[in-house]
Amino acid sequence: MILIETVEKLKEVLFRIKSNGKTIGLVPTMGALHDGHISLIKKAKSENQVVVLSIFVNPLQFNNPNDLEKYPRDLEKDLLLIEGFTDIVFAPSESEIYPTTPEEKYDFGELDKILEGASRPGHFNGVATIVKRLFDYIQPDRAYFGEKDFQQLAIIRELVKQTKDDITIVACPVVRESNGLAMSSRCQQLSFAKRNIASKVHTIINKAKELGVPHAKKISEHVLAEIKKLEPITLDYFVIVDEATLQPVDSLDDAKNVVALVAYIIGDVRLIDMIRFK
Ligand code: PAF
Repeated sequence: MILIETVEKLKEVLFRIKSNGKTIGLVPTMGALHDGHISLIKKAKSENQVVVLSIFVNPLQFNNPNDLEKYPRDLEKDLLLIEGFTDIVFAPSESEIYPTTPEEKYDFGELDKILEGASRPGHFNGVATIVKRLFDYIQPDRAYFGEKDFQQLAIIRELVKQTKDDITIVACPVVRESNGLAMSSRCQQLSFAKRNIASKVHTIINKAKELGVPHAKKISEHVLAEIKKLEPITLDYFVIVDEATLQPVDSLDDAKNVVALVAYIIGDVRLIDMIRFK
């Protein structure tokens, strides 16, 4: 495993690899790695000859400076965790990625205005900016993203469509702790007790799904009422939407590919999750 910190060195190493006809899988991350990331790396390794994992806490996608400051960072720990799994780790500094003020402006229509986009203005423009820069430096054959960040996945698919980059976007299932909580780097900021409470959100949504009620509105009312009882959780949104458009569905009977998306705040940590309904 080699650690690279500059774009110039990265391009030089990748040029040699590509000249030998090897395929490249990219796993973009912001570090604070966990088993969810390991599952992305394993998938990338099974489909490519070389895996590049990027670690970069991208300031552009944080609309809240406090959130950026508190975001967990521990490169040494990350490197120990992925030793033996990854071929190249690209961990640049902020000035390496943004030597001048970035000016990219993306237009994803409705897609970046709803849900996370509504709660975190500018977030998806920041995500698209860093992901596009990584795509340009690395030019991978495939790039791997977790389904937990479901709206991000839709944005990245749209990005690749707009830029016509020849990169296959691979969606990987949510990896959960034994209590059902979706693994997330942000969970590292929560106490064991708070993680347990957070896991109940998943339990509530899963149970609601099992009720077999076809009306999305009824399910939502039930979920909202149950989450309200969970101290100290504040719900941002819970929606039942079409997987492709992220637009709300009315009846589960009439819809095909349906997912529930949820965002909530516990303590001062914001968590999101995705549960496939149909
Ligand atoms: O999902 C993440 O960790 C980040 O949003 C990503 C895709 C690495 C971009 O900074």
